Amino acid sequence: MSIYLGIDIGTSGTKTLAINERGAILASASAEYPLASPHPGWSEQEPADWWQATIATVKKCLAAGKIKPQDVKGIGLSGQMHGSVFLDKKGEVIRPALLWNDQRTAAECAEIEKCAGGRKKLIAMVANPALTGFTAPKILWLRNREPKNFAKTVQILLPKDYIRYRLTGEFATEVSDASGTLLLDVKNRRWSKPLLSKLELDAGLLPSVYESEDVSGTLSAIAAAQLGLPAGVPVVGGGGDQAAGAVGNGIVKAGVISATMGTSGVVFAHSDEMQVDPLGRVHTFCHAVRGRWHVMGVVLSAGGSLQWYRNQLGQAEVELARQNGIDPYELLTQQAASAPVGSEGLYFLPYLTGERTPHADPYARGAWIGLSLRHGRPHLIRSVMEGATYAMKDCLEIIKGMEIPVREIRLSGGGARGPFWRQLQADIYGQKVCVINAEEGPAYGVALLAAAGTGAYKDVVEACTATIRVVQTTNVQSKPRQQYQKAYPMYGKLYRSLKDDFAEIAKQV
Ligand code: XUL
Repeated sequence: MSIYLGIDIGTSGTKTLAINERGAILASASAEYPLASPHPGWSEQEPADWWQATIATVKKCLAAGKIKPQDVKGIGLSGQMHGSVFLDKKGEVIRPALLWNDQRTAAECAEIEKCAGGRKKLIAMVANPALTGFTAPKILWLRNREPKNFAKTVQILLPKDYIRYRLTGEFATEVSDASGTLLLDVKNRRWSKPLLSKLELDAGLLPSVYESEDVSGTLSAIAAAQLGLPAGVPVVGGGGDQAAGAVGNGIVKAGVISATMGTSGVVFAHSDEMQVDPLGRVHTFCHAVRGRWHVMGVVLSAGGSLQWYRNQLGQAEVELARQNGIDPYELLTQQAASAPVGSEGLYFLPYLTGERTPHADPYARGAWIGLSLRHGRPHLIRSVMEGATYAMKDCLEIIKGMEIPVREIRLSGGGARGPFWRQLQADIYGQKVCVINAEEGPAYGVALLAAAGTGAYKDVVEACTATIRVVQTTNVQSKPRQQYQKAYPMYGKLYRSLKDDFAEIAKQV
C-alpha cells in the first residue's frame, strides 16, 4: 500500500492527514498553538510551535491509522500564507514570525509602491499591489524597525517552508505560496529580479522555487527519527493554504470556483491564463496546478467574525453546548435561523482585523449598524453571518466582473458545515452552491499533490478527477434572494461612509 501525508500549518493549529492512493482518508490529527498580538494590529507565532505540532500530529496520525511507516511514499506541505520566518546563519529563528493577518506594515507598503515607481508598475511586475499582510512589507519592516535582526537574517521562509526546512534541510518554496510574498514574477513563475533590485533586497535571502507537484527534497535522517518515518521520503512543493485547499476542493479547471470560510474567507477561481484585476482588489497568484494561475478575493474575518462573537458574547451557548456535548456553533446557528432575513435592518461590517478584498484597508473596523430595541441575540448572530457572507459576495462580484466564468460554487470550511449558512450563501450569492465529498481542505489537497508528484497519478488534475465529486447542492430561494439583493448595496455604502472615520479612530489608539 502507498500512503501520502498532507500537513497543513494553519493559524490556529496544524492538521495532518494520511490518504491512500485512491484518496481515501485513513487518519487525521490536529494540534493547536497560540497566536500572540503584542501590539494592536500585530499578529505573531513561534515557528517552533509549528514544528512541535508537526511532530505530534504526524505521530498521532501514524498511530491512529495503524500506518506502517515504510508505506509512506510522499509528504505534501500546506500552510497559512504570507508569514515571514527569519533565519540566521545557523538556521535558527531570529524572532517570532509575522503572520498573514498582521497589519503593522502600512508605511512599508507605501515604500514598496514608491520604490516600484507606482502601483501600476508594481502590479505589472508582480501581478498584485502591496498589502499589509504580504511578506515583502514584513521584510522591509524588519529592515526599518529591527535593523539588528535584519542584519542577522540570511534566509526568509514562509510558514510551511520552515517546516520543509526542518523536514529536509532544504530552503525551498513553491509557486503558489511564493506568489503571496509580492516578490514573485507571477507570470513567469520565478523571483522578480527587477523588484528585488528596486527594493535593494538580496535574492539569496529567498529559497528556491518549485512547481507544487515537484519533489523539493527528502526527509532527513534527523527529522525521520523525530517523526517515526523512514529517511528519504520525498517532500513535494505543496501549496499555500488557499491553492492547496482549492486542490482539495477540486478547483483545478475553469468555471468551478470555491467559497471557503475558515477564520478568513476566500473566493477562489482557477484560471488557465494569468488574469489581473487592474484595480488590484483581488489577488492573482500561481495555482498549485502546473502552469496555471488563480484569482482570489480574501475576507480577513469571515468565520473569524462568528468565532469572535462566540468567544466574546456567546458564553451562554458555549456553556450549554459543553453540558450537552454539542458544538456551540450549532446553538448559535439555531438562534440566527430564528431571526428574519436581513436581520430587520441590522448590518454587521466584519472588518475585525481590517480588510483586504475589496478595500485593502488595514484601519477598517467591525461595526453593527442599525441597532434598535427590536434586536436581540438572534439578530446579532444572524447579522454577523450575513455580514461575513456579503463580504464574500464582494469578492465573487469582482471575479465575475473580470469575466471569469462562475458555473459552480463549491463551499468549504465552517460556512459549508450546516444547512443554514449554506442556504444563506446561496441566497446572498444568488447562485446555487454545492459541497463535495472531501472536507479536509488544504491538508487533503497537498496529500493529493504528494500522490501526483510521486507518480500515483499523471498530475494533480487527474488526482482530483479520480477522488473528488459533488455530494450535495443547495438551490437559491427566490424571496430571500430578492431581499438580499436589496440589502447588499447598503452593506457596501456603510463602509464607504465610515472609511475616513476608521482612519481617524486608528490615529486615536
Ligand atoms: C491568503 C491568506 C489567508 C492565510 C491564512 O491570502 O492570507 O488565507 O493564508 O489562512
